[in-house]
Amino acid sequence: MRPRREPIPDAVGLDLRTKPTISGTLVTLRPFREGDAEVMAEILSDPEVRALTGSVATTVEAHAGQPWDELLVEWYATRSDQPDRLDLAVEDVASGRLVGEVVLNELDRQDRSCNLRVLVGPAGRGRGLGTEAVGLATGYGIERLGLRRITLEVFAHNPRARRVYERVGYAVTRLRPGALVFDGAAVTAVDMAVEAERWQGFPPPDGSAGPVDASGT
Ligand SMILES: CC(C)(COP(=O)(O)OP(=O)(O)OC[C@H]1O[C@@H](n2cnc3c(N)ncnc32)[C@H](O)[C@@H]1OP(=O)(O)O)[C@@H](O)C(=O)NCCC(=O)NCCS
Repeated sequence: MRPRREPIPDAVGLDLRTKPTISGTLVTLRPFREGDAEVMAEILSDPEVRALTGSVATTVEAHAGQPWDELLVEWYATRSDQPDRLDLAVEDVASGRLVGEVVLNELDRQDRSCNLRVLVGPAGRGRGLGTEAVGLATGYGIERLGLRRITLEVFAHNPRARRVYERVGYAVTRLRPGALVFDGAAVTAVDMAVEAERWQGFPPPDGSAGPVDASGT
């Protein structure tokens, strides 16, 4: 058997069509299923989620909420049909509740790279769930899918998310001052990336999370 942390570049040939269930210690990443859209509408209505993901440009808009409507139901009902992106629900192992999502998108097959985004609602935050979700998704992307690079964007007014990405192994590649204007003030976007050749695995060598079991559905 190969060591878990060795990249397996062609293991499943950039197969983002398969939607795995990935078990960690604190979270389970799993495909979206019926009924999730209602919970996701609540999570996406959280003002912090709206403000920090760059979805809105003002505090007033951040408090406006995300409607649980047909569009949102359709969105989550079709996540498992997408061939070029991987959207997984983040479930809190302790409560069994859906608390957020982690997504590998913007796949570039030539470059063997993609983008990662994550959000965890108030019920899941501040307990290590976001770090584990990002770590598991990144490990899956590099070790199982064979991605060479995963990139992401975080705004300078979101030090918590940046801390999470750094803990998992992402490093800053570029600063883009004024990429976002929030409440009339310019906000710097920070580009970060993790390269397969520098990937240390998750949990990192000094980490304490448990084993990872990734099985396709
Ligand atoms: C960012 C997010 C995914 C992190 O998930 P989480 O479960 O809350 O994070 P964790 O509990 O795993 O870890 C948070 C880390 O940030 C640290 N942290 C918290 N507030 C911080 C701050 N203001 N400055 C620096 N670090 C901070 C914590 O101490 C912890 O680090 P540690 O484990 O080394 O102690 C989640 O908070 C979230 O979705 N927020 C709203 C939307 C968002 O920001 N999405 C990301 C857009 S780029």
